[in-house]
Amino acid sequence: MTLNIILLGPPGAGKGTQASRLEDEHGMIQLSTGDMLRAAVKAGTPTGKQAKAVMDAGELVSDEIVSGLIGERLDELGPDVSVIFDGYPRTGAQAESLDEILAARGRKLDHVIELLVQEDALVDRITGRFSCAQCGEGYHDRYKQPKVAGTCDVCGSHEFKRRPDDNEETVRTRMAEYRAKTAPILPIYEARGIVTHVDGMADIDVVNDAIETILSAATTG
Ligand code: AP5
Repeated sequence: MTLNIILLGPPGAGKGTQASRLEDEHGMIQLSTGDMLRAAVKAGTPTGKQAKAVMDAGELVSDEIVSGLIGERLDELGPDVSVIFDGYPRTGAQAESLDEILAARGRKLDHVIELLVQEDALVDRITGRFSCAQCGEGYHDRYKQPKVAGTCDVCGSHEFKRRPDDNEETVRTRMAEYRAKTAPILPIYEARGIVTHVDGMADIDVVNDAIETILSAATTG
């Protein structure tokens, strides 16, 4: 059974952390528009050049660009792969586009999992975040340190990096964007009866267990 799931929550809610777990445990594919845009910025593509200043300011890149990226990636994956949308959709227009994109590919949205978090904890989560410069494994100064200090658990690299938009000022703008433009799309999905809320303030493993329970109900029921 092919699943199409949205992980919804403000910056730092743990969407990327949980999507990466689902990739490892179930072979699902994480479709993170943030990662796609950062790859475009790094590669210096026209999309990347257009997106860079907007991302550095913590504002939203245009709906056309991100929906285009999602459609292209789904076409590359083909019909039989289960996917987790991470950071998409983020506006009402993107939510509408996602419905069209999925329908055109014979897919349908199965679940929206909202990670419920307290905003004041998120600045701490985000400003403490770093990742392996080689394989991208995510870490945190306090909540998820490498097992051996200075060495990536996954690939053994000694190089790490931090995102340029992970400073307090930009994080506050990203949160304001979430409240103004993304949170209002939740009722669309609630009206369809496909939203489940998960306590995103719990430990990473506990959040993962809650998501696993939702997914196993979806695949057995
Ligand atoms: P994007 O990359 O999507 O960033 P974001 O939504 O701000 O989300 P984050 O990646 O910051 O948070 P997350 O929820 O994934 O948290 P994580 O798991 O890393 O977008 C970046 C920018 O790109 C946007 O600002 C915008 O400009 C542009 N963009 C992207 N998509 C777009 C779209 N659709 N439309 C328009 N523009 C778009 O966790 C954070 C930290 O907390 C980690 O260190 C982690 O270890 C730790 N942590 C996670 N869970 C827990 C837990 N339960 N307890 C303790 N610590 C935890």
